[in-house]
Amino acid sequence: MARTYKIQVLPGDGIGPEVIQEAVKVLEIVSGAIQRLDLAFHEFPCGGKYYLETGVEWPGEAEVFAQQEADAILLGAVGWEIAPGQPVRRKDGQLAGAEVVLGQRRDLELYANVRPVKLYPGVPTPLADKQPADIDFVIIRENTEGLYSGIGKRYGENEPGELAIDVRPISRMGAERVIRYAGRLAQKRGKGAPKDGKQRLTCVDKSNVLLGDQLFRQVFEESMHDFPEIEPDFAYVDAWVMWCVRQPEYYNVVVAPNLYGDIISDLGAAIQGGMGVAAGGNIGDNHAMFEPIHGSAPRHAGKRRANPTAAILAGKMLLEWLGERHNDHQAMNAATIIEEAVTTVLKEGKVRTYDLCKGSYSSQKPSTTKQMGTAIRKIIQKTLKERS
Ligand code: IPM
Ligand code: MG
Repeated sequence: MARTYKIQVLPGDGIGPEVIQEAVKVLEIVSGAIQRLDLAFHEFPCGGKYYLETGVEWPGEAEVFAQQEADAILLGAVGWEIAPGQPVRRKDGQLAGAEVVLGQRRDLELYANVRPVKLYPGVPTPLADKQPADIDFVIIRENTEGLYSGIGKRYGENEPGELAIDVRPISRMGAERVIRYAGRLAQKRGKGAPKDGKQRLTCVDKSNVLLGDQLFRQVFEESMHDFPEIEPDFAYVDAWVMWCVRQPEYYNVVVAPNLYGDIISDLGAAIQGGMGVAAGGNIGDNHAMFEPIHGSAPRHAGKRRANPTAAILAGKMLLEWLGERHNDHQAMNAATIIEEAVTTVLKEGKVRTYDLCKGSYSSQKPSTTKQMGTAIRKIIQKTLKERS
């Protein structure tokens, strides 16, 4: 008997619901067509708009469901605006809705933020002279500590001597678990770096200056003794962004403390063709939450033009994670079918959302969110039919 996976769906704010709807439809199709793959969807409201209406970022039962019931979580985006440039904030000044993302990362111990950077054929990259064969690596961002610890204080508010301090704890345990996760991923990615096939793992830090980074790098060096087939590699974060633009093909798996990972993964998204195609997973030992990394983009909300590819790829990562965790070949198989369909649609390029109508595609008429989602689902249905 196949088990039923409970998928918690959190569409959230802005373009979140628009893209998540397309991703859920994709998951429904594979779940319906593949025998012994059964997904049940449980949707809950959350985000800044919900906060404005209710005074809380999500209902208490949604939080309990995430902790106790969900086999995996699919999140759209959080963050809403009262007026352009005026985000909804909680009473403590934090972005309303952020707790759903940051709180979950912390409370569910989703310590590895996995962000693949892959340029699909047919997607324009801003890097001149780089091809899909050059851009295929994964950023692993530490996701629970560092500058996101939430420890800090403002002193003497609105006084001339005002001061704000953010504390940046980096622990041996916190560094070690994410570095080992990255090491295991580098082992699994047999093809290695596009440039030379090396199973390279790059530690990105600022250990020439900061104590936390010195610990992070030390733990990296120690951990690598257990991964003899991996080529350890080091870069200071400022230099890494330069190298990433110059020769992305050198990278295979990259691991970094929290805030550096946040920043460098937006660079990664840019070189793979933009936020519209960049997906991520927040992964721990017992829980995982997947999301398009683009955010709620309030100014695009309701225009039905957002690219659902990132959300659909987040769904693919969710299936991959379930597949590995439960040794479930059908879930893995579904993930492969989804990625192949995305690849085909992007490569054919007849259907493309506005964000992909750049460079040599700038004269093309942009497709809507629905058209893009439908095109991907058509290919999935064709594949499923052929294989049944
Ligand atoms: C991300 C986002 C979040 C972060 C924001 C929305 C709090 O930028 O997931 O990268 O800073 O982690
Ligand atoms: Mg970010």
